[in-house]
Amino acid sequence: MKDDGNESATLATLANKRILLGMTGGIAAYKCAELTRLLSKAGADVRVVMTPAATEFITPLTMQALSGHRVHLDLLDVDAEAGMGHIELARWPDLIVVAPASADFLARMVSGQAGDLLTTLLLASQAPVMLAPAMNQAMWLHQATQDNLSKLRDRGCHIAGPAEGSQACGDTGPGRMLEPAEIAAACASLFVAGMLSGLRLTITAGPTREAIDPVRFISNHSSGKMGYALAAEAVQAGARVTLISGPVNLPVPDRVHCINVTTAQEMLDACLSSVDDSDVFVGVAAVADYRVSDTRDHKIKKTADTLQLTLVRNPDIIGTLAARKQRPLMVGFAAETQHIEQYGRDKLLRKNLDLLFANDATATFNSDDICATALWGDAGSQKLGPANKNLVARQMLTLIAARIRASQPDA
Ligand code: PMT
Repeated sequence: MKDDGNESATLATLANKRILLGMTGGIAAYKCAELTRLLSKAGADVRVVMTPAATEFITPLTMQALSGHRVHLDLLDVDAEAGMGHIELARWPDLIVVAPASADFLARMVSGQAGDLLTTLLLASQAPVMLAPAMNQAMWLHQATQDNLSKLRDRGCHIAGPAEGSQACGDTGPGRMLEPAEIAAACASLFVAGMLSGLRLTITAGPTREAIDPVRFISNHSSGKMGYALAAEAVQAGARVTLISGPVNLPVPDRVHCINVTTAQEMLDACLSSVDDSDVFVGVAAVADYRVSDTRDHKIKKTADTLQLTLVRNPDIIGTLAARKQRPLMVGFAAETQHIEQYGRDKLLRKNLDLLFANDATATFNSDDICATALWGDAGSQKLGPANKNLVARQMLTLIAARIRASQPDA
């Protein structure tokens, strides 16, 4: 993670949090040493539970030295039960992180097994759960694993990763555990409540539609999921949110003021009326760059073999708002199919934005998940995801809060 001093800001919400780190058997277990260091450095109290398989990859002594506490290993340990017993331990954490979460462990969680300390704690605890899967790419892609994940997601577990790349077994593909800094950032994003208290956000979402005639239009594949996730999470973080939405099939999140629009011009008009009352503007919408110059009043008949339409440029909404003298913190998105970070940074500069989330258009449109790179300043950058859009939305809001703090150094 490249960082211009924002790592501590991003992880600030972890101060005084109680985190139970559950480690299962996998080569990525060695990364938990650094994860523990990062969580502790951010002020979290970390207790470690290891399955027998995890102890084959890294010693409990190492984890004890890094966490500063005895590592919990056995369900039926007389000494441990005399100290913090397993039910007490289940009640202790604000968050349980399982990293690495092996395919076998996910399967045992799904079936509600309680044959070892970690599965028992997960059954007995009410704490939110973050899973950082790590396994061979074929195991990850297997339908059984995907079914297990979808059940765990439905039960409210947060899934961080995995990443793609070369694996210890020699394969290449999805299944690498996320880097410790990425897991720590995902954990921090779960504690954003109150982080945006008193702030007003305007968020655009979804596509715009530009009419060709009364029955046809130009548009794109944006589902609105990313913008709606940000709106819902921003409300949870204490913000007042105006959502300016193109046509999508999503329910408006609770306590969000939604203005429905169709065209880019309507979106611009709605944004202009909202922006003066905003502390932050977030442009998630996939605005159609062009509209038809002469929209027909009647349905075009298929009489000719070819049809020519003249397209004219739509207004650049975020560019227009960012050029104003009095402007809120300006946050943009860029969905690209190649040179994602380079094109994203070009847009950050060209549109005069404070923060931009560059993402892969082929993977993000209409998906439940997103993998993005946050870009700010001359060289600030941070990888987010791959993870569910709600989880990544919280990480994005954490970065937005950090940018607000950075813009008010004396506050
Ligand atoms: O809706 P989902 O299915 O969840 O998908 C999410 C998403 C892919 C739409 C989202 O993650 C995303 O990347 N949105 C930006 C899409 C895009 O490629 O925008 P752009 O590169 O055309 O524009 C860059 C920025 O300028 C964006 O903040 C955009 O909102 C803004 N813009 C663009 C054109 C325009 N005329 N006016 C604008 O304000």
